[in-house]
Amino acid sequence: MVELAPSILSADFAHLADAVQAAEQGGGTIIHVDVMDGHFVPNLTIGPPVVRSLRKATRLPLDCHLMIEHPDALIPDFAEAGADWVSVHYEACRHLHRTLHLIAEHGMKPAVVINPATRVDLLIDILPMVHHVLVMSVNPGFGGQQFLPFTLDKIRRLRELRKEYRLNFRIEVDGGIAQDTIAQVVQAGADLLVAGSAIFDNGHAEQNAQSLLRTARVAAGELQPA
Ligand code: DX5
Ligand code: ZN
Repeated sequence: MVELAPSILSADFAHLADAVQAAEQGGGTIIHVDVMDGHFVPNLTIGPPVVRSLRKATRLPLDCHLMIEHPDALIPDFAEAGADWVSVHYEACRHLHRTLHLIAEHGMKPAVVINPATRVDLLIDILPMVHHVLVMSVNPGFGGQQFLPFTLDKIRRLRELRKEYRLNFRIEVDGGIAQDTIAQVVQAGADLLVAGSAIFDNGHAEQNAQSLLRTARVAAGELQPA
């Protein structure tokens, strides 16, 4: 089943609980939380204290996408704050295997993220340990960027590898997902779909989430076109 993971990066930070509620009512089943440190990416966002508050606002899994250097130091804090899934960037982790273990040891689902310039095949040896792989379809750091079509090949390659090695990690895609791009992402093999600006930009989060999810389900063959 495809699932929608609304990214609160594009929501009004003064009203995050409302944003989460609207996303949930629109059919979102995962809340995507973008953590940026001003070093790994040129932007600063939120950290464990905000995750702790979000934890009180929803029972949905909190999918924390860490765009930070040295993530190991903060993993206990995310666990304590109530994060469910934690993804770390391949490009930020010198000892990725150790970091993924650390996430799992803290009772969270470990995941790895790759930037558009990083090859999927670099992940082969650690695929058995991850709950999901997150493919960035924009360069991380900001919401509202344009989808990069060449990243579709990465999704297809991951689907092939999952089959070849008989694994069951999920494939998440993040960046530029909107009505005009979501179907091709699903057809390439993604099953967790992150969307920020397409959901929160115009004040109609619930309806936006609903129609994105509908388009994704049609593309996945889970729903008949209306
Ligand atoms: C970008 C973040 C994304 C961001 C996506 O670095 O990782 O999760 O919220 O935003 P849109 O959907 O607007 O591209
Ligand atoms: Zn993200």
